[in-house]
Amino acid sequence: MKVFIDKSVEAIKTEVGSKRVLCALSGGVDSSVVAALVHKAVGDQLICIFVDHGLLRKNEADQVEQVFRNQFKMNLIRVDAQERFLNRLKGVTDPERKRKIIGEEFIRVFEEEAKKIGHVEFLAQGTIYPDIAESGTGGKGVIKSHHNVGGLPDVVDFEGLIEPLKTLYKDQVRQVGLELGLPEELVWRQPFPGPGLAVRCIGEVTREKLDILREADYIFRDEIARAGLDRNINQYFAILTDMKSVGVRNDERTYDYTVALRAVITRDFVTADWARIPYDVLARVSERIVKEVAHVNRVVYDITGKPPATIEWE
Ligand code: XMP
Repeated sequence: MKVFIDKSVEAIKTEVGSKRVLCALSGGVDSSVVAALVHKAVGDQLICIFVDHGLLRKNEADQVEQVFRNQFKMNLIRVDAQERFLNRLKGVTDPERKRKIIGEEFIRVFEEEAKKIGHVEFLAQGTIYPDIAESGTGGKGVIKSHHNVGGLPDVVDFEGLIEPLKTLYKDQVRQVGLELGLPEELVWRQPFPGPGLAVRCIGEVTREKLDILREADYIFRDEIARAGLDRNINQYFAILTDMKSVGVRNDERTYDYTVALRAVITRDFVTADWARIPYDVLARVSERIVKEVAHVNRVVYDITGKPPATIEWE
């Protein structure tokens, strides 16, 4: 990976020269690694735009800022677009429409910010080999519109596209990230959909529902890490179902949400088995969620494989 980094840095330097590069940073592994790599090559000629759509997990947006602005000293523009996304998502319940709206709004925000910067010659993207393979026929894009591939180069006029990771598999991208000094928790981040928590918030996406989901998801991840299971389970997260049901708290009737927990063991994310999390860990997660998160009175665990289910609920 050292050799890969050296060669990529040289190639990027040669291609970019004294021109500028724009990068849409999401905080995911791929865009983070590409940003770090391009930054190593051209330093301040790289400008990163991070669109904070309010659909990230707890503390994630601040972590992005901490790593890239404070640690790497990158030229980072953080756009607080939470209200915009929530407004556009108002009343929308269909999962594909949600994805479409988020994709469109993302491009709009990015485009507006790019215009403010003025002409930038290059766009850097974190395309990796499986993205290219999957966007062909038969890939998962057929089942769910894939948010991460394509789009940006068409709306903003660039002279060239820089995609240094496009021959790499995910584990190679992680190695490059570690070599470049990105923090472990970022490099080992679980897969996370581009449209973020909107996918895991069934039905209409509201600020209240997102807040509930973020807290429940944080508790689940915290307990999995405490149990030392975080590297054994390939993906795990909470979902806020759109179902409310009757419960009882302090002798009073409640009518609150059901949170679902999803955890899978998978090699390729194309098929998956549900993780056999020990009952006592599940019990702690459930107890904490109903105690610490308002408006949740029930927690269920998804015991369905893929197929016939998918990993995400949406
Ligand atoms: P499903 O739910 O189809 O998910 O079994 C398979 C894997 O893909 C992730 N996923 C996405 N990843 N952009 C991504 O980068 C997306 O829009 C997206 N949607 C789903 C999902 O988290 C799982 O790991």
